[in-house]
Amino acid sequence: MTNLMEVQEENPSGMTPRQIVAELDKYIVGQADAKRAVAIALRNRMRQQRVDEEIREEIKPKNILMIGPTGVGKTEISRRLARLTTCPFVKVEATKFTEVGYVGRDVESMVRDLVDISIDMVREEEILRVEEEAERLVTDQIVDALLPLPDEDAEREESSQRTREKLREKLEAGELEERYIEITIEEQVVPHVEVFSQDGGDQMGIDMGDMLSGFLPPSRKKRRLRIREARPVLFDQVVDSLINMEDVRQEGLRVAEDLGIIFLDELDKVAAGGREETGGPGVSRQGVQRDLLPLLEGTTVRTRYGSVTTENVLFIAAGAFNMSKPSDLIPELQGRLPIRVELDSLTAADFRRILAEPKDALIRQYTALLATEGVTLQFEEDAVDTIAQLAYELNQTTENIGARRLTTVMERLMDEISFDADQRTGETFVIDEGYVREQLADIVENPDLSRYIL
Ligand SMILES: Nc1ncnc2c1ncn2[C@@H]1O[C@H](COP(=O)(O)OP(=O)(O)OP(=O)(O)O)[C@@H](O)[C@H]1O
Ligand SMILES: [Mg+2]
Repeated sequence: MTNLMEVQEENPSGMTPRQIVAELDKYIVGQADAKRAVAIALRNRMRQQRVDEEIREEIKPKNILMIGPTGVGKTEISRRLARLTTCPFVKVEATKFTEVGYVGRDVESMVRDLVDISIDMVREEEILRVEEEAERLVTDQIVDALLPLPDEDAEREESSQRTREKLREKLEAGELEERYIEITIEEQVVPHVEVFSQDGGDQMGIDMGDMLSGFLPPSRKKRRLRIREARPVLFDQVVDSLINMEDVRQEGLRVAEDLGIIFLDELDKVAAGGREETGGPGVSRQGVQRDLLPLLEGTTVRTRYGSVTTENVLFIAAGAFNMSKPSDLIPELQGRLPIRVELDSLTAADFRRILAEPKDALIRQYTALLATEGVTLQFEEDAVDTIAQLAYELNQTTENIGARRLTTVMERLMDEISFDADQRTGETFVIDEGYVREQLADIVENPDLSRYIL
């Protein structure tokens, strides 16, 4: 069975906190405290796996609450973290959930999602392990389909053996991909079962169709397919026979329990914000918070793969908390998010860096987009300064929407060039301070206007 720890040795989750921060630095400007906190938490996942069993039981992950104004990088950090880690990771929005008993997704579904991801990960690992063997067996099957089994006659068998070798060579050289073969496709019959649950069976966490199909024999169908099309079908079938799904299930559950991370975004939106909810269609937010408590504390959740406890699942919550404060959360929930990190508002200097430095920086994006039309963009230093400064000022004079302001300002700045690019092939546009001021003049001079268009 795969051992995810081993995989992690060479893999990103084996990264040190310093390396994790360095990786996050490639995309997110500033916010050192938040990066540090998540890096430590991630590393602690791995440390915990290594301590003696006796103490390991006692060590629980320290859940994190990231607090900071809108558009400063909270969600972005989680997005990047998800790509860095080899731990099963789900990102959910607290606003998506409703109190148990109400119509909608209950909070336990996030744990079921985590388990699904975990099982997939472990299965992928296993597929990698058996890949070579599977490909060999697939080729065997294709050869069989091309050439009916040799009969008893020894002489003919020998010649057919040679033919098989030739076929195999041709197959490997990709020469026969368009040839048709007949293959047997095994299909699990998924009976159509109506489950009268408000959201299509999700609340039960058990897919009735899935469950019943286990009792029914698979149906076999003969189909004629091109070799190119048959290959992936056969591969899946062979892989299924090579992988022990029971091992995958157990390991998947273990990995979800021990290494799982749930990023709980928009937590502030379920805080009361001073106003108690009074009935109506809006489902009690406090109810959602109360439902979250046992998950963060450690509870057992039934999933279609089996039960998991959430005791060791790491929760990273985030929220802007502009309408409400962390202290508006019910006290028990506050207590279960012991590590607080604040993200800073972004300055004009930060904006300048965000425009140019990250791997996905807006300036890089526009340059790449227009390069496809043969148009070269050349951003002068003073232009970048001015864009950053204007975006910052707009945030002060209108709504502060953080770095999202840069997107709207850049789109407006690029409007003319973007529209005409196809007719300007081969040209180089130098974007300097003058051009920026000219393009953005109307909104700079008229903050009321900018309120509507930006
Ligand atoms: N510190 C940063 N460095 C680089 N880019 C950033 C930074 N902060 C925000 N951005 C950019 O702004 C966009 C919005 O940021 P993000 O989604 O992280 O906001 P948020 O803090 O989650 O806000 P909200 O509270 O509204 O959800 C991101 O897509 C990202 O490109
Ligand atoms: Mg966000």
